[in-house]
Amino acid sequence: MRVAAIGQGYVGLPLSIAIASSGHTLYAVEIDPARYESLRACRSYLVDVTDEELRRETGNKRYVPVSGLAEVPEVDVYVISTPTPLTDDKQPDLSTLDRALAQVAEVARPGALIVIESTIYPGATRRHIAPLFERLSGLKAGVDVFFAYSPDRVDPGRDSVLCDVPKLVSGLDDRSLEAIRTFYGTVFKEVVPVSSCEVAEFTKLLENTFRYLNIAFVNELSKATSEMNISLREVISAASTKPFGYMPFHHGPGVGGHCLPNNVHYLNHALHSAGHKSELLHAAAEINDSMPRHVIQRLAASLEQRGRALQGATVLVLGVAFKSGVADARNSPALAIAAELVSMGADVKVTDPWLGVDRVPDAFTAVDLTAQECRGADAVLLVTDHEEIDYETVLASSDLILDCRGMLNAAEVEQL
Ligand SMILES: NC(=O)c1ccc[n+]([C@@H]2O[C@H](COP(=O)([O-])OP(=O)(O)OC[C@H]3O[C@@H](n4cnc5c(N)ncnc54)[C@H](O)[C@@H]3O)[C@@H](O)[C@H]2O)c1
Repeated sequence: MRVAAIGQGYVGLPLSIAIASSGHTLYAVEIDPARYESLRACRSYLVDVTDEELRRETGNKRYVPVSGLAEVPEVDVYVISTPTPLTDDKQPDLSTLDRALAQVAEVARPGALIVIESTIYPGATRRHIAPLFERLSGLKAGVDVFFAYSPDRVDPGRDSVLCDVPKLVSGLDDRSLEAIRTFYGTVFKEVVPVSSCEVAEFTKLLENTFRYLNIAFVNELSKATSEMNISLREVISAASTKPFGYMPFHHGPGVGGHCLPNNVHYLNHALHSAGHKSELLHAAAEINDSMPRHVIQRLAASLEQRGRALQGATVLVLGVAFKSGVADARNSPALAIAAELVSMGADVKVTDPWLGVDRVPDAFTAVDLTAQECRGADAVLLVTDHEEIDYETVLASSDLILDCRGMLNAAEVEQL
């Protein structure tokens, strides 16, 4: 089949490579000029796709990067993986998805299958996306074109093969469901059909919010256990020996990335639209959002014990990405912590082996990690536990270390 994949980010690029590797011809549409140029040069900007894969699929002409849909010939399938962030008042912001859909509406022909991969709220495909498309294109969903929703389950940086992860699929009607089952059946080992787009949309939010709530639970516990002289990490590891009914989650400096902190508000929006108010979701968001400030309070207390004030102290923040093993700093707690420290008068330096000095946001002083930087800091704050950080140097050269991830197992290191 001929496929156009709109958006070549954390979701769209690995998915596009999987589709191309399955023998389809894939036009990879990317509007960001830097990303587009990178794809043309077969230079991957994601940990989950190698340059070699890009070279292979580009070389055999199954993966074709383009900067706009106007460059794409008629195709059978459109796959949309554009961002779905929040508005300032934490409501779903589908404007980027709408713009991508409008571009598809200009070129789609009868018989096309349109697949939404972006995370959206339950009901969005049926009540928002399909009607918008019908208005813009004059084509009727379920009659002229087919609409499917298939949530992405990628976990960037995790060593798993995309095609091995069971793929949820749903359609606006029976023919749409059949179309997506058939298409993704050629790409994924296991396709899991569900009865409606609403079920698939809700399932995605359930999966991510499950994780978010459990992290909030241990985050809340961590505030108490640090005062009770109990190691919550030891408790979690002891509980993990139970072979059933328990799954470990770990506390940390807050929850970042494009998905978890947004998805909880997408679910909240859906419940609210149905007339329900979730105290639990609200409380979880408050707890997770409070963690950067809690980290700073712990740091200030540790400095005070050493006769130092936070104001004027030099703090070296280790790790800027929102989690280890990726170069993605979206909603990263490290950025929230660093910004707050700066506003409190600390002299903040940040370092991240995945982002390097060049890709750290301009608001912060980025440095390479050296013994000298560690020695020059009043405190070293380990926020993101990248494997590539030179922990030996950190341990040997730092006066005060606060470890937010349980990475450093040494008596002199303070644990969150
Ligand atoms: N990142 C994840 O781990 C993850 C996992 C599951 C689901 N999701 C969901 O997938 C969606 C995409 O997330 P992402 O992390 O891949 O975002 P991303 O920002 O990494 O990638 C989106 C890409 O789309 C491009 N784009 C935007 N509008 C376009 C247009 N009109 N034409 C062509 N390209 C366009 C952007 O330039 C960007 O490169 C979101 O809804 C997100 O919630 C993300």
